[in-house]
This record gives sequence, structure tokens and C-alpha cells, in this order.
Amino acid sequence: MRYYPENADPATRPGLEHCVERALPNVENSVMLGIFQPNQAFGEWPTLAPNPTEWTFEYNLATVRAAEAIGMSFAFPAARWAGLPGDEIVWRGASLDTITLTAALLASTKHITLLTTVNTNLLNPVVAAKYGVGLDHIGAGRWGLNVVSGWGAHEFAAMGVELLDHKERYRYTREWLDIVEMLWRDGEASLDGEYFKVDKASGRPRPMQVSPLVVNAGQSYTGMRFSAERADYIFCYGERAEKFREIRAEVGSDCGFIGTKSVIIAATTAEAERRAEQIVGGADRGALRNMWVTSGAETAESAEDRLNTPGAVHDYLLGDAIVGSAEDVGAQLAQWAIEHDIDGICLNLYDYLGDLDLIGSRAIPVFEAELAAHGKSFRRPFVGEPVS
Ligand SMILES: Cc1cc2nc3c(=O)[nH]c(=O)nc-3n(C[C@H](O)[C@H](O)[C@H](O)COP(=O)(O)O)c2cc1C
Repeated sequence: MRYYPENADPATRPGLEHCVERALPNVENSVMLGIFQPNQAFGEWPTLAPNPTEWTFEYNLATVRAAEAIGMSFAFPAARWAGLPGDEIVWRGASLDTITLTAALLASTKHITLLTTVNTNLLNPVVAAKYGVGLDHIGAGRWGLNVVSGWGAHEFAAMGVELLDHKERYRYTREWLDIVEMLWRDGEASLDGEYFKVDKASGRPRPMQVSPLVVNAGQSYTGMRFSAERADYIFCYGERAEKFREIRAEVGSDCGFIGTKSVIIAATTAEAERRAEQIVGGADRGALRNMWVTSGAETAESAEDRLNTPGAVHDYLLGDAIVGSAEDVGAQLAQWAIEHDIDGICLNLYDYLGDLDLIGSRAIPVFEAELAAHGKSFRRPFVGEPVS
């Protein structure tokens, strides 16, 4: 690590501040890979099918190390405050907190960038900025903030925290991020805002990154516009890439696009299909019913009809997943990235450690070759560029 005394803040010693440009700089015509971390019980799939994945710290540590070892660039945990009861399980009923988890994982890895999901409605921005600086120093510039404005209403109702109206949520988050970024840039912040009154709040040391990586996963117009204006990357369903590019052009932003994709991978196609069948066959219908009703997508009655519609459970759980052998998965991921012209893919996996082994040994070589055939490259991680 080079030291840049000219960037040091006189209030701090020795001043290892602003010495890394930014984690995950966007490189044209290259595609990164990363994972959602398995930090919540039953993760993406509320099913009783057998699954070796665990939400535990040990398992998450092994997972991010495995992801790093095969050349993945980032990992991303979910911030979850309450689970959804099903018939036999509580979906996401246990989850490790993202800030403490990221701190420990950054100290145990070297190359991979680790993102921390932070609820802007639960943490004072001065406190959040300070946590961010700590994480960035622990990871020597390999850290990023995933800003979430509040999503599952049931999580906040249980805490007695009001969830603002959707548009207002993003106005609040803009002000929150203004303060965080002011502290990171200047080591001090003052703002007489609509939601926050901050008077010479101090935030030293400043982070290692000149401007720490910020990502957001808004899917609505308001959310995508926020990402375009304020984030370095949006995490979004691949099918929304075109819409996002329109918004990005409106705003004149260069925010990158990372598509999210679920993958059911196995040594052979037949095995992957068997696993997919087990996931759907073992689905906890009560958890799905609860999710649809809680999110407002269905009423109790229409949820029941949907559950009884042939193929509906499959479509919800695996409708847009890639199911196949390791080589098929490598090829299909590359084709998907090329089709949507995206900068990275964030994977949801089922058996994380087993799947990462297959991805590293058999999917990535095919992924890389397929990208190369279309003039793109697979981008492995490197820590942010030194400040020149
Ligand atoms: C890939 C991805 C990850 C997300 N992770 C979280 C999370 O961990 N916690 C959370 O409260 N919301 C999370 N969200 C919700 C988003 O921040 C956002 O609120 C949601 O996608 C709806 O978009 P909108 O806010 O533009 O309506 C996630 C969304 C996506 C697509």
C-alpha cells in the first residue's frame, strides 16, 4: 500500500486516508462475478429440500474465501430484521447482521470487495459514516456501502419504526447520503436539512477510498433514478437493464449495472434438474403465501389461488433461474451478460460451497471463453487504483 502524505488530514496521524481511488472501478467490456452471501436462513428459497448451506459465520467465511479464490470480485449480504413464518420454517428467520459480519470477513480476505447493506432508516448517518470508515480501513479500500431505504414493511412495524411513503423514503435517503459523503470527503459535516440537523459533526479518520463505493438496488423509477444519480452500481434484475440505461442517459450518469441471477448448478444437467425439482417440491407454501400477502402482491384469497395454479410455485422460485451443468451455467451466464450488456453478475446459489467449487473449476473457463468470443473479458478483482 502506498502512502500519500499530501492526502492526509492534519487532524489525523498517520493519515492512511484517501489513498485508494475506489473499490470495483468499472472497466469497459469486462464482466465481474460476485455472490449474495448466505447470511440468512433459507436465503432465496423457502424449501425443505436438503441443503448444506448455513447462515453461520463459519460458513459465510468459507464462502467468501471460496468466492475470492475463484476470482469473484464482490460479495453482498442482506440486511434482514424479521423472518416470515411459513408452515414448517421461518423464512429468513435467522440472519447475521451485515456490519459485524463484513468487518470480520474483511479482516479475513485480501482481494474481494465486500459490501455492507445498511438501512438508512435505522442508523444515524454520522454513525453509519463512522462504521463505513472503519470497514474501509479494515479492508484497505475493499469495501462498499449498499444503501437500502426500507423495503419489507413488516420488519419495521415489528420494531415500531415508521416506514416513510416510497418517494419520501428516497428523499430521506438522499439527505442521509449527503451527510455520509460529506463526512467521508471532508471529515466534517453540517446540514440543516428536512430530516437531519447536523452541526459540525466530526468523522475522522476519513476512509481509505477517496470516495467509497456506493451501490443501490432500487427497482422502481424512483429507486433507479436514485441509483443513477448517487450510486456507482445498481444491483438489478437483468431484464431492467434497458430501462436503467434510459434513466442513466436522462441523468448523464455512468453508474454501472450489476444483474442478479439465481443459479442451480450441478455436475450434470440431470442432477441440476433433480435439485430444482426438490426445491419446488419441498417449497413451504405457508412462507410463500405469507410473502405474497405481506408484500401486497396478493390477498390471502388470491395467494391461495396462485399456490394452486400449476407451475406457479416453480415460476416464483425458479422462473428466471439458470438450471444446468457447470458448463451450461458458464455459457448461459456469459450469454445473459452479453445480451443485457451488463458490468457484473451477482449470483444466488443453493449449495454455496459445492456450487462455488463447480463454478471455479468448470463454469468460469466456459464463461471466460464465451465472453472472449464476443470481445469481452472476465474481470478478476484488484484493489482500487492508487491515487496518482
Ligand atoms: C439485489 C437486491 C438486494 C436487496 N437487498 C436488500 C436488503 O438486504 N435489505 C433491504 O431492506 N432491502 C433490500 N433490497 C430492496 C431494495 O433496496 C429496494 O427497496 C427494492 O428493490 C425495491 O425497489 P424500490 O425501492 O425502487 O421500490 C434489495 C433489492 C435487490 C434487488
